[in-house]
Amino acid sequence: MVLKIEPLDSHRHIRTEFCSGQDNLDNYLCKQVSQDIKKRVLSVFVLINEPDSRVLAYYTLSAYTVDITVLDEAFAKRLPRYPYLPAMLLGCLPVDNRQKGQRFGELMLLDALKRVINASTQVASLAVIAEPLDEQVVNFYIKYGFQQFNQSPMKLYIPMQSVEELVQNLGI
Ligand SMILES: CC(C)(COP(=O)(O)OP(=O)(O)OC[C@H]1O[C@@H](n2cnc3c(N)ncnc32)[C@H](O)[C@@H]1OP(=O)(O)O)[C@@H](O)C(=O)NCCC(=O)NCCS
Repeated sequence: MVLKIEPLDSHRHIRTEFCSGQDNLDNYLCKQVSQDIKKRVLSVFVLINEPDSRVLAYYTLSAYTVDITVLDEAFAKRLPRYPYLPAMLLGCLPVDNRQKGQRFGELMLLDALKRVINASTQVASLAVIAEPLDEQVVNFYIKYGFQQFNQSPMKLYIPMQSVEELVQNLGI
C-alpha cells in the first residue's frame, strides 16, 4: 500500500464512504465537488492508499483576494496600500474519521502549502487563507503558524514567507 496525494478523479476515486464528522464537507465531496472543478472554481486533491482508491482525506485550493484592513498590522504595514491583495484559499481539509490521528491532516496541509509555494513562483500570492468550520480545528492551523484574522477568528492566514520557512524547517 502506498500513500498518494493526487487531483480528484471523479471516475476513479471512491467518495461515498468518506465521513469526516462534518456532514457538509462529506456531502460536498460526493455531490458538488465535480461541478465546482468543472466550472474552475477550485482544485481538489485527495489522499488515497494505493491500490485502494477510497478517499482518506482531501483539500481544496483556489485563488482569493484579501482585504488589507483585516490583516495583522505588523504584516499589513509592509504591504502596498492596495485595497485587495492576492492570496490562496485552502477552503477545507477534512480527514476521514477512521484515519484521524495518523498525521494525515499534517501531510495534507504540508502538501497544500508546497503546492501553493510552487504556484506562487508563477502567479504571485502573499498568504494562504484557511476557513475551518469548527472552532476546534482553528488550533490545528495555529499549530502550523496560521494567525486569526482581526475581526473573524474563524478565518486564518499565514504569510507566504512563513509558509516557505515552515516547509524548509520541516525539510520537505
Ligand atoms: C483537523 C484535522 C484535519 C486533523 O487531522 P488529523 O489527521 O487527525 O491530525 P494529525 O494526525 O495530522 O495531527 C497533526 C498534529 O496536529 C494536532 N491536531 C490535530 N487536530 C487538532 C485540533 N483540532 N486542534 C489542535 N491540534 C490538532 C495533533 O495533535 C498533532 O499534533 P502533534 O504534532 O503535537 O502530535 C481533522 O481532525 C479533521 O478533518 N477535522 C474535521 C474536519 C475539519 O473541520 N477539517 C478542517 C477544516 S475544513
